[in-house]
Amino acid sequence: MKKNIEDYVFHKKNFLEDEYCEKSISDLNTCKWKKHGWYTPTTSLPAFHNLPPEGVEKESEVIDLELMHPSTYAGDLIQSGNPGGNLQKKVEDINDLIVEKLRVALEEYVRGLNFYWFSGWEGYTGIKFIRYFPGQEMKVHCDHIHSMFDGERKGVPILSIIGHFNDDYEGGETFMFDDKNGKKIDTEKGDLLIFPSNFLYPHYVTPVTRGVRYSYVSWIW
Ligand SMILES: [Fe+2]
Repeated sequence: MKKNIEDYVFHKKNFLEDEYCEKSISDLNTCKWKKHGWYTPTTSLPAFHNLPPEGVEKESEVIDLELMHPSTYAGDLIQSGNPGGNLQKKVEDINDLIVEKLRVALEEYVRGLNFYWFSGWEGYTGIKFIRYFPGQEMKVHCDHIHSMFDGERKGVPILSIIGHFNDDYEGGETFMFDDKNGKKIDTEKGDLLIFPSNFLYPHYVTPVTRGVRYSYVSWIW
């Protein structure tokens, strides 16, 4: 096996077609977004430490499919989108297509590891969509998330994904590893990143300086 932790960050180019990315952004923008209510797993304290610039909400916004189906999923974010009707259907359609393609990408990732002792995964959370306006960012954190386990789901988060719907913004860059030795990942519209969810893989998104960044995440257990 490879001993360099960077080798376990998988960059899938053109995971989603450009046209589909554009349609997804357009559909998602007809939905209601909520503030990203992210908490650190061990302390339940907000993961955002710095005060935002005057007049700017620091936290990005999300549409969390998990909370659209509270009986099915257990998300940790307060988001219901626009329940019922066509808008929810649109979000579900985007989710379903990504999930379908994700299965293939995950298989490619796992097969590439060639770890005979790793039997794969049980499932993944509903896609969470995140948008960042200028001044918004994601502070460094790792994805050792507890809140996705509600008693019915059991396990630990194994893999994380970050997908990118667009690249026509400035700032908002995805970095892997800590904020002193971070490695910038040059992602383009449609690209997907897969990486282990554990403490060796902290990551962050720098503040957007122009335009709006649209991305999505899910956790695999
Ligand atoms: Fe994360």
